Amino acid sequence: MIEVRSLKIDYGSPGSAVRAVDGVDFTLDRGRSLALIGPSGCGKTTILFSISGLLLPTEGTITISGTPVTGPRRDVALILQNAGLLPWKTVWQNANLSLLLSGDYPKQDAGAVLDELGLSEVKDRYPAELSEGMKRRVGIARALSTAPSVMLMDEPLASLDTLTRERIQDLFLTLWRTHKFSLILVTHDIEEAAFLGQEILVLTERPARIKERVENPEMGGLDYRESAAYTQTVRKLREVLEK
Ligand SMILES: Nc1ncnc2c1ncn2[C@@H]1O[C@H](COP(=O)(O)OP(=O)(O)O)[C@@H](O)[C@H]1O
Ligand SMILES: [Mg+2]
Repeated sequence: MIEVRSLKIDYGSPGSAVRAVDGVDFTLDRGRSLALIGPSGCGKTTILFSISGLLLPTEGTITISGTPVTGPRRDVALILQNAGLLPWKTVWQNANLSLLLSGDYPKQDAGAVLDELGLSEVKDRYPAELSEGMKRRVGIARALSTAPSVMLMDEPLASLDTLTRERIQDLFLTLWRTHKFSLILVTHDIEEAAFLGQEILVLTERPARIKERVENPEMGGLDYRESAAYTQTVRKLREVLEK
C-alpha cells in the first residue's frame, strides 16, 4: 500500500547539495507497522516528511494506494516529536485543529476520539494544565480525528520518562490494532522499535540507506516486552546498530 522506490533526497541546491537519503526502498502493506531506526542525523525525519508529502524526493518515487505522493494527503496523519499543541488553545480546540484546517469541523469533531483517549473531562483545559502524558494523548487525538489510513510518527515519545513512555507505547499498540492504520514509526529507541514494529529497518549514518531489515513477527501483544522473542529482537537491533 505504501511503496518507496529508490528514494534519494538532497538538501540545498545542486552543486552544493547535502545528500540526506541515498537510495531507500521498501513497501508496507495496508494495516502493517514498520519502524525506522538509525543514529541521530541520519535522515529519518527526512524520509518521514517525504512520505507525508511535506518534502519532495530529489529522485525516486513514493506512492500510497497506487497514487504518487505530491503533497500532504488527508488520509495520512503525522505526529511530531513534541505533541505540537498550541498553548493558547484548549484541548478541544487543539484536538480539532486538523479537522478545522481541512474544513470538516464542526460537521465532524474529535469528540469520540477524545472519549476513547480518556480526555473528555479535560477538554476545556489548556496544554499548560496537563501532564506530559496527557499532552501526547491530545496530539494523538488530533491525528486520529481525521480517521487516517496511514499514521506517521517522528520520535513521538522522545523526552518522556520511562513509565509514561511505555504507557503511551501500549496506547499506540492498542490504537494500531483497533483503528487498523498502517504505521510508520521513526525512533532512535531500540525498545520502542521492537515493541511497535512488525518489521524494523535499521538505517546507516547519513546519508540514510537500509543497513538491515529485521523481522519481528511475534510483536502485537501488550505483554510482548516479557517475551523471549522481544529480547531477541532487541539484542539483534543492538548488534546491527553497533556494527
Ligand atoms: N533543511 C535542511 N537543510 C540542510 N540540511 C538539512 C536540512 N534538514 C536536515 N538536514 C540534514 O540532513 C540530515 C538528516 O536530517 P534528519 O532527517 O532530520 O535526521 P534524523 O531525523 O535522522 O535525526 C542531517 O545531517 C541534517 O543536518
Ligand atoms: Mg529526526
